Amino acid sequence: MSRFTPSVIAQRSTEQAIGFLMQQGIENADCLSLAAGFVDLESLPVELVLEAATDIFGAANSQHVLQYGTTQGVPAVRDTLRTYLADLENCKPEAIPLDQIMLTTGSQQLLSLLAQAIFDPGDICLVAAPTYFVFLGVLDSVGANVIAIDTDNDGMCPDGLDRVLGELAESGQLERVKMVYVVSYHDNPAGITVSEERRPRLLEAVRRWSTKNTIYLLEDAAYRELCYDEVMLPSIWSYDDGFRSPDSIPQQVILSQTFSKSFSPGVRVGLGVLPRELIKPVSDLKGNEDFGSANVNQHLIARVHESGRYQTHLNSLRERYRKKRDVAVSAAEEYFSDLTGVSWHSPNGGLYVWMSLPEQIATGFDSPLFQRATQAHKVMYVPGELCYPSEDENRPCHEMRLSFGVLQPDDLREGMRRLSVAVSEQMQEQGLA
Ligand SMILES: Cc1ncc(COP(=O)(O)O)c(C=O)c1O
Repeated sequence: MSRFTPSVIAQRSTEQAIGFLMQQGIENADCLSLAAGFVDLESLPVELVLEAATDIFGAANSQHVLQYGTTQGVPAVRDTLRTYLADLENCKPEAIPLDQIMLTTGSQQLLSLLAQAIFDPGDICLVAAPTYFVFLGVLDSVGANVIAIDTDNDGMCPDGLDRVLGELAESGQLERVKMVYVVSYHDNPAGITVSEERRPRLLEAVRRWSTKNTIYLLEDAAYRELCYDEVMLPSIWSYDDGFRSPDSIPQQVILSQTFSKSFSPGVRVGLGVLPRELIKPVSDLKGNEDFGSANVNQHLIARVHESGRYQTHLNSLRERYRKKRDVAVSAAEEYFSDLTGVSWHSPNGGLYVWMSLPEQIATGFDSPLFQRATQAHKVMYVPGELCYPSEDENRPCHEMRLSFGVLQPDDLREGMRRLSVAVSEQMQEQGLA
């Protein structure tokens, strides 16, 4: 018999719900998945990667690309990506300190390293409600307490944030608050973008309450470039004057981006801009893991930017996802409009439609609806309750995240139809229709 007891951190890292969903997908191969957060397989840029690899390895002395890199990321690649980021931020490249840029193995690694570098058990993280459920798992692993802040269609409410921070100060817990986490563009799971007006106000609230220690605002901009309708808003990071006057104003926003959604999740390249004092602890932790993310993949990403192929690809990707978004939303209108108490948010970007059912219709893994949808109607979704802190007793249990990233338009429409049948039957069974 084994005498092994996993470490506390391993025990706190319970299997992510994503694992359960993937298992369900494998066991129900004929299921249409509105659950998978994957990107559109057909959109993945095989040709561009081939061309970029040919450019890289056709050049003289390309062996260095196959060598170890540096923990923080290849300097020349960071330089190229700084220019790309400066374009998005509408600033000069020099306004973004090169030595504060980090390249990671997907942005997920950055989120995890930041959590390890910033939180001790019992520290507090404030999050939008709902929020990215994988990060909630990361916060559990490091023993952080998570508090949900009121969130509406304009994103996290600055007044709600201010109120909760005030209450924590009253109860003597302000020192334990280390971070506010916001997915700022077309978020996962609800497709919501923090409005322009709220962006500086969230940062102001964080600054106001950073009296005892720095409260960082982690801006997760994973879906920033998947915008289909509107002009891209300035990032919350762009309001952080600490990056312009670092000697007089603390730097408080951590900007996290990724090329997973806009190019390929398989290359696993994430990009972060970190406040000065976080670079060393995060690099030290990363050094323990890998001495640096894959050198080859960093060069690939740099090459597609330098050649202009990235932008061309992104333009066609937006077009592709815009059409799918339209299919998902029009299918929601067609199939769910007649169901009383069902509503949804039409996103301006990203990969998700967030749907709310009457409160009595539970959507969790153990719910009759989930069973009915997966077993009888062969369609799968992500239960909304996963996207709220698990300790929150008042978390809503009647919502669903519906992804339009993976399925092709016909299957997407069919998936929405099947789900509407499952919901309608469940409502009838519970006497709601
Ligand atoms: C909001 C959000 N942040 C971060 C990530 C991590 O993505 P990656 O590690 O591929 O960059 C995801 C992935 O789905 C996400 O939805």
